[in-house]
Formats: sequence, structure tokens, C-alpha cells
Amino acid sequence: MKHERKISVIGMGYVGLPVTVAFAHLDKVIGFDINNARIAELESGVDKTNEVTPENLKKANIVFTSDPNDAIGTHIASKVVKALIKKGVRVDQAMVTVLGLTFKEDVPDIRNSRVIDIISELREYGIQVQVHDSFAETKDVEKEYRITPQNLSELQPAHAVVLAVSHEDYVSGGWGFISGLLLEKEGVVYDVKGVLDRSSKPENIYLERL
Ligand SMILES: NC(=O)c1ccc[n+]([C@@H]2O[C@H](COP(=O)([O-])OP(=O)(O)OC[C@H]3O[C@@H](n4cnc5c(N)ncnc54)[C@H](O)[C@@H]3O)[C@@H](O)[C@H]2O)c1
Repeated sequence: MKHERKISVIGMGYVGLPVTVAFAHLDKVIGFDINNARIAELESGVDKTNEVTPENLKKANIVFTSDPNDAIGTHIASKVVKALIKKGVRVDQAMVTVLGLTFKEDVPDIRNSRVIDIISELREYGIQVQVHDSFAETKDVEKEYRITPQNLSELQPAHAVVLAVSHEDYVSGGWGFISGLLLEKEGVVYDVKGVLDRSSKPENIYLERL
């Protein structure tokens, strides 16, 4: 698995940077800030706020970024995990179905897809993840990510579904399709692209989106 980072800290200011450095003792961390200049400064090993010494900054295993996509996997996975806990599901016994692996809808190209970050993050929590993609070639996915996507008929009923890519068949299937993938048609749905109609959401589904 290529991406294994667990923690993302948003905002690399007086508070965020020392927190990020502290977390970096425990795990790999992503430090995100919208200010490109601040990211460039930190990448060069300098903290102009003088909260962290250059030595400590150098020692810490931090990926600094101003690209929100770099933090998206941890964000979505943490939302799914919190929602599962609220629903009373034991995270280490949870099954999550991820729909879509390609870098955009209705194409087979899996290069530059960030969906793998979501999958890796969920697995870090001990969650079982099964993946389906209606467009990607199985051999490409196995080669690139060492994951074998499953046919729809092979998917086990899941506690949560992450609709990661809005392939046409997923969207047209709507809530009927999504509910059918859930255990007893209830659970958590994370709609990454915000394509599912909120007004017709079944009551027993807990919906999250970006
Ligand atoms: N400094 C303190 O002593 C202190 C104490 C208690 C609480 N706080 C609170 O903690 C928070 C951070 O304080 P600080 O002192 O670190 O501020 P700061 O101004 O030093 O840093 C904030 C950082 O967040 C970045 N940022 C702003 N909006 C962002 C966004 N949407 N996404 C990503 N990055 C973004 C900014 O570019 C900046 O680098 C504030 O809400 C502050 O009120 C600060």
C-alpha cells in the first residue's frame, strides 16, 4: 500500500505546527495550510513563528502541503469512522464498500486517483474494505494497488458505502442501488461527489458528504 498516513492537521500556524510536530512522534502526519508561502517555508525547514526549531522540524516525519487532495483520505475515513461509531458499529468489525477507484467518472483510468488514500486510511482503522469499479480494468487495479476489485454480486452487505467516483451507473442507480449494498439497507453513506439526492434519502441512512 503506498499511502499510510493517519493524521492530517489543518492550519500550520502558531498552534497547528507544534501540534503537527508532536503528532509526528506517533505517526506519519500531513500538515495542510492554504498559504503556499507558509508551506514552502516549512518545506525548506524554517518556521518563521519560531515555535519549532529547525532541528525538530527536520526530525519530524511530516508531509507539508497546500493541496487539499493530500488530506482528503484521512478526512473522509475519519468521518466514516465517527459515523460508524455513532451508529453503534464496532469499527474493527466493520465492512465498508468503496464504489469507484478511477480518477474521474466514467473512465477506466486509475492514475492519479486519490481513492486509494481513503481505502488505505479505512484499513488503518482495522476496517475491512471491499472495492467495486464499473470502469477500471481489474488487472490495472491489481498491478497499481494490489487490490482485487469485486463484481457487484460478490460484495458483502456493508455497514458503510463510500461513493467515491460518480460513475453513471452508480448515480442512476440512486438510493435503491446504494441501499441494496448496505446491511439490512441501513448504515452510513459517504457521498464524496455529492451526487445523491438528499431530499429522497432513506431515513435509516446516515449521509455524509464533503
Ligand atoms: N495562538 C494561540 O495562543 C491560540 C490559543 C488558543 C486558540 N487559538 C486558536 O487556534 C486557531 C489557530 O491559531 P494560530 O495562532 O495557530 O493562528 P495562525 O494565524 O498562526 O495560523 C493559522 C494558520 O491557518 C491557516 N489557515 C487559515 N484558514 C485555513 C484553511 N481554511 N485551511 C487550511 N489552513 C488555513 C493560515 O494560513 C495560518 O497559517 C485559531 O482559531 C485561534 O483562535 C490560538
